[in-house]
Amino acid sequence: MTNLSASVEEILTTDYVGRPFLYMETTESTQNEVARHAVNGASEGLAVGAGYQSQGRGRLDREWISTEGSSILVSVLLRPHEDYVNQIVIMAALALESFIGELDNGIPAQIKWPNDILIQGKKVAGILVERIKSDEPGINDIVILGMGINMNLDTSKIPEISDISTSIYNFTGEKVDLIGGYKLLFENLEKYYESLKMGTDLLSIWKNKLITIGKPVQIANGGEEFIGIAEDVDHTGSLIVRRQDGSLTSVIAGDALIVSEQIT
Ligand code: BTN
Repeated sequence: MTNLSASVEEILTTDYVGRPFLYMETTESTQNEVARHAVNGASEGLAVGAGYQSQGRGRLDREWISTEGSSILVSVLLRPHEDYVNQIVIMAALALESFIGELDNGIPAQIKWPNDILIQGKKVAGILVERIKSDEPGINDIVILGMGINMNLDTSKIPEISDISTSIYNFTGEKVDLIGGYKLLFENLEKYYESLKMGTDLLSIWKNKLITIGKPVQIANGGEEFIGIAEDVDHTGSLIVRRQDGSLTSVIAGDALIVSEQIT
């Protein structure tokens, strides 16, 4: 642990998100760290951040690449009620988009289905939600909300991701203070999580912001790939795609490459 945790906690204005905030220079994955705390009974809001992850993971079993001290790599423990547990990823996407706008309101952050945050067509942040089911009636599931945000990472120097990823630094040319970054992120998360708890229809807000709707997309959904027009999302957040033969398919998970813009 380093005093980055203390510096963040000192300036935080949240009630529980980021409290406590445990920061590690290196770990395998902050997801694993939070899982350990969660099964030991830690409370909602505990967050683990890292300077570097040796086994950072993304959606669909992908690797999440970072270099030392250059990104926000953080996992937050939530224990959401079953009524809104499926909307955590939507809540996080809205919080991340808002966070980036508050960092610098000149940054045109956008949300691509299902939950990638882009700047000018390149990915700047991703969300990974992992869930540990509760087997006790009346006890909420554990949700580990992982977020990777390319803050000061120079993605142009990383051949594996340079074509598809960017960072706040790559866009603005300015390095960002990570202490202030974590503070702002936790504050936005708590704001959006509280509004989810209060019953705000985040799904509609998210749907209206998705850049995917109305666009031709190439869907990779497990083993299947097809092209169609992304027409809508349903109440579960699944993407409704009209195939070239006119039929509609609901895509629960996977990737939707916007064909005209060649985004992955
Ligand atoms: C995605 O594929 O877009 C999701 C990426 C999520 C990466 C974050 S970094 C912090 C947390 N720890 C991990 O191992 N993964 C998530």
